[in-house]
Amino acid sequence: MPGNTSTPDWWRGAAIYQVYLRSFADGNGDGTGDLAGLRSRLPYLAELGVDAIWLNPWYPSPMADGGYDVADYRSIEPVFGTLAEAEKLIEEAHELGIRTIIDVVPNHASDQNAWFQEALAAGPGSEARERFWFRPGVGDGPPNGWQSIFGGPAWTQVPDGEWYLHLFAPEQPDFNWNNPAVRQEFLDVLRFWFDRGVDGVRIDSAAVLVKDLDSVEESYTDHDGVHEIYREWRRVSDSYGGRILIGEVWLPDQERFANYLRPDELHTAFNFDFLSSAWEPAALRASIDLTLATHVPIGAPATWVLSNHDVARPVTRYGRAVTSWDNAERRDRMPSDLELGRRRARAAALLAMALPGSVYVYQGEELGLNEVEDIPEELIDDPMWERSGHTVRGRDGCRVPLPWSGAEPPFGYSTGEPWLPQPAGWRDLTVEAQEADESSMLCLYRSALRLRRELLGDGALTWLPYGDEAIAFRRDSGLVCLVNLGAEPVALPETGSVLLASGPLDGGLLQSDTAVWIMEAR
Ligand code: NOJ
Repeated sequence: MPGNTSTPDWWRGAAIYQVYLRSFADGNGDGTGDLAGLRSRLPYLAELGVDAIWLNPWYPSPMADGGYDVADYRSIEPVFGTLAEAEKLIEEAHELGIRTIIDVVPNHASDQNAWFQEALAAGPGSEARERFWFRPGVGDGPPNGWQSIFGGPAWTQVPDGEWYLHLFAPEQPDFNWNNPAVRQEFLDVLRFWFDRGVDGVRIDSAAVLVKDLDSVEESYTDHDGVHEIYREWRRVSDSYGGRILIGEVWLPDQERFANYLRPDELHTAFNFDFLSSAWEPAALRASIDLTLATHVPIGAPATWVLSNHDVARPVTRYGRAVTSWDNAERRDRMPSDLELGRRRARAAALLAMALPGSVYVYQGEELGLNEVEDIPEELIDDPMWERSGHTVRGRDGCRVPLPWSGAEPPFGYSTGEPWLPQPAGWRDLTVEAQEADESSMLCLYRSALRLRRELLGDGALTWLPYGDEAIAFRRDSGLVCLVNLGAEPVALPETGSVLLASGPLDGGLLQSDTAVWIMEAR
């Protein structure tokens, strides 16, 4: 199976594991995860049963935003390793049948990127400044009132008086995508990594590349012009025999979202509607229906995502009084019943993995890690914390290094001190502890991913009537997924054999917040 071309449609039904490299495994004892650590743990991922890994940005970066501030798009952050090690990783992963997807960040660079440094030095009116958005201010203030997504103004003034645009942190200047040099640069960057064997790219902030600075209102989301860019990218990826393009596209309007998945643009995009859905039967059913209605007519496979490095861990979120997710209202420290949350997260995993399309697993999700909500303020790294004037703690709570083994921190993650502290309570959640316990979250994920490979993936779904409080559907293989979201137990179907359940099944009953996979009697 290794290689890129053996099964060209592999991505349509793939299980893709997201590696947040900084926190996965540390190979050299400096407390930060790295390529050596990841390479040593590839057998774990093969055993888990994933088809691909997606790595968050691994480029040289001052880490003002966890690596989403890229200083050099053609190299590897020294703390993570070297380009030669990255090439080895890609090769070793292929040998285990695992493909590699990397993160490309086209909306903005780091302020330490050579182009931005050149622009600062070259001064107003220069060609170098044309690659970014430099403008004179209005009076003493910025060119317009746009706000940064991380809080505060989206403009920063440089010593010669001009201002530059940054939709995120000031250390992340936005590229000017009207400039042909910028377009050319990213086509070259894609080729650079495809030449090194990467199987696909995840495109950061994919919908905000094109801006209309003359608009009084903030005008950067989903301009039609962005599609031209992805058509060019698709030509490059196709020329490599079908490397894939995955968009980070947060758009509430599903018709506009679907435009990104036209046959000559991106292959897939993350399903944030499903990720954001409350743990309620009507909401989840509506989200699944909407997703399928968006994807099926255009022949694009859906994706199913429960978590990533930007949102609260499902175990914590599903244990809260409000179970939906909203980026604008992060619900920091809203009380959570973690036992309830864990039960629901297990059921949610079986639901997501049974749906048609591809599925993402964010590292630690398979261990049932909770959001860490007590990181000491002086250790908080996320720029949201500073930018919000210390009102939003941000995303570090889902980025805490993984617990691998042993009874106390650093839990086999490192021989040094982890860059964020791990809770002592994670001793029961280590890979080692869970491997020894058949009822663990890890064993559930392993079994589900194995069955999924054989029986699920891309295809169609048929809804089954099972009352208002349950979700039930059949896949073409005959596998039925049944999830009880109500307070009362529901009866299991009378025929068929149980393949896997997210919790105990008592006397033919499916308990509240539990999911089961059943193979229909034929
Ligand atoms: C989305 C990424 O997932 C997030 O972590 C990052 O902060 C922003 N894009 C800006 O690059």
